[in-house]
Amino acid sequence: MAGQADGVVLKITVAMSHDTFAENQRRCSLADDDQAWLFGYGSLIYLVDFPYLDSRPASIRGWSRRFWQGSHDHRGTPAHPGRVVTLIEDAEAVCGGVAFLVEAPVFRQLDQREKNGYLRVETEMTFADGSQASGLTYLATPENEAWLGPASELEIARHICGARGPSGENTDYLLDLAHSLRALELDDPHVFAIEAHIRDLQRA
Ligand code: SIN
Repeated sequence: MAGQADGVVLKITVAMSHDTFAENQRRCSLADDDQAWLFGYGSLIYLVDFPYLDSRPASIRGWSRRFWQGSHDHRGTPAHPGRVVTLIEDAEAVCGGVAFLVEAPVFRQLDQREKNGYLRVETEMTFADGSQASGLTYLATPENEAWLGPASELEIARHICGARGPSGENTDYLLDLAHSLRALELDDPHVFAIEAHIRDLQRA
């Protein structure tokens, strides 16, 4: 087992192709008439292009949101990847986002959207009223080929300012996420520091 923190269990340790669609379809243990909670912490918060039955603010414990994943297919290209968020193990952290209750067949569409290195893994999530549920989230680990890893927030901001892909400007991904986190009254110093650098770079 590569890692485990409060409910999210990773079972993949081998180097993976950056296209994780087939892997996620293989690990699907849901029956067609099942429903599952999906925890979204990045673009899934603000770009909700999938059907869902319910949605609630939620959080997961033991993970931090970081702009450490490369994007070859949405906010960048294979030659010039963008930077998008993934979850990094961090025992003290709580990552806030939004949970969506979705029907099992929707995961095919979600697996397609998140195929650039993200694995669909099980997690425990806590809703705003303190109740808890098991569900799923997409995260990208250092083993995937699109992984970019840590950099200073200024370097990340510069990188984001220079990237764009089929889904649009990388800056819009960051700014839309920061806007959504504020609307949810969530603090995320990493995201807000990159946002501040981007605003400075845009003004310069
Ligand atoms: C997520 O939003 O939960 C996963 C990362 C992304 O698609 O931006």
